[in-house]
Amino acid sequence: MKMIIIFCITFTCGFLENVISDANPLTYEAIFNFGDSISDTGNAATYYPSMDGNSPYGSTYFKHPSGRMSNGRLIIDFIAEAYGLPMLPAYLNLTKGQDIRQGVNFAFAGATALNMDYFIQKKLIPPSTNISLSVQLDWFKKLKPSLCKNKRECDNYFRSSLFLVGEIGGNDINALILSYKNIAELREIVPLIIEAIINVTTELIEEGAVEIVVPGNFPIGCNSAVLTIVNSGKKDEYDQFGCLATYNDFIKYYNWQLNQAIETLRQKNNHVKIIYFDYYGSAKRLFEAPQQYGFSFGKIDTFKACCGKGEPYNVDVHIFCGSFASTICSDPSIHINWDGAHLTEAAYRLIAKGIVEGPFASPSLKSPTFKIA
Ligand SMILES: *[C@@H]1O[C@H](CO)[C@@H](O)[C@H](O)[C@H]1NC(C)=O
Ligand SMILES: *[C@@H]1O[C@H](CO)[C@@H](O)[C@H](O)[C@H]1NC(C)=O
Ligand SMILES: *[C@@H]1O[C@H](CO)[C@@H](O)[C@H](O)[C@H]1NC(C)=O
Repeated sequence: MKMIIIFCITFTCGFLENVISDANPLTYEAIFNFGDSISDTGNAATYYPSMDGNSPYGSTYFKHPSGRMSNGRLIIDFIAEAYGLPMLPAYLNLTKGQDIRQGVNFAFAGATALNMDYFIQKKLIPPSTNISLSVQLDWFKKLKPSLCKNKRECDNYFRSSLFLVGEIGGNDINALILSYKNIAELREIVPLIIEAIINVTTELIEEGAVEIVVPGNFPIGCNSAVLTIVNSGKKDEYDQFGCLATYNDFIKYYNWQLNQAIETLRQKNNHVKIIYFDYYGSAKRLFEAPQQYGFSFGKIDTFKACCGKGEPYNVDVHIFCGSFASTICSDPSIHINWDGAHLTEAAYRLIAKGIVEGPFASPSLKSPTFKIA
């Protein structure tokens, strides 16, 4: 008897497996991700092949540019790893006949929640791409027939899949910051960004998604690119850690509004688990106590980008990481910031750990198969 039980746990008895995977799967069968450069694993790089040249991107983990805006893995890579899934293939880079049963990534670097028309109409600095969130949803719908054949099959499959809608919205906010809009003007766009996110989440629910993550946004007041662009110089605009307090307060407001909208969506869809990722909290603690998390050690400034050019943050909006004039730090693992806008693998690992193992996801994800090392 004992032997049989052990055998069943290790190899899962056939009938048990079916019951479990239909009703309450213990883990995720697949991940479908939508977003921007925070989670793009190769879509933009496939679209603009020149991006994937001889550059320091990917140098730490992949040893070559991997289509990711970091030196190594992103939060989404660590999440996939934790659930024993392969790193998500980029939708635009799929080859005919490729096995996509374990998920696909639709995120595109530079993507906005709102469509390009909005930025053009408002005469704002346009985002770098028109692959907005709704375009990514169209990609998903186009791919769907090759994922599952009919409603019953799709419902079953998506029931054990995890969907992530974001982080997205950061580039909408960036477009305003780059257009020199003030905080009051930033606040005005929040309801529209959130509406776009909720719209796509609602459509995914209609498509059969029952477990969906809607992440909040990062503490952009601690972002080296934002610190460089805003460069207010007014001491009272910074918090005790060196972040721009007004910009972080704005993100807190944004995340609070997003949470309100998520709560409304939950009430309308009792059968759906909508998870909020607190990227603000999970990232802010790194800037508040960098040495506790293995960064800085007093040798380097908490905000100094590893790859770039310029004082004081090693960021210049005209000199990109990888361009001839840029320099690269000797040890990316003690930097939080990678290239001004994006974080290092070391920072993303800690953020992912805080999400998967708690306490920065609410409600929490399923129990991970592996701990994030
Ligand atoms: C595209 O896929 C190939 C093979 O699957 C991989 O080697 C390559 O790195 C991918 N490119 C990007 C930009 O993701
Ligand atoms: C995005 O822009 C390109 C040209 O830059 C165009 O060919 C494409 O149709 C546009 N896509 C969308 C979804 O608007
Ligand atoms: C959200 O969906 C509604 C209903 O389809 C539509 O009227 C509205 O324009 C959409 N909003 C955004 C920001 O996409």
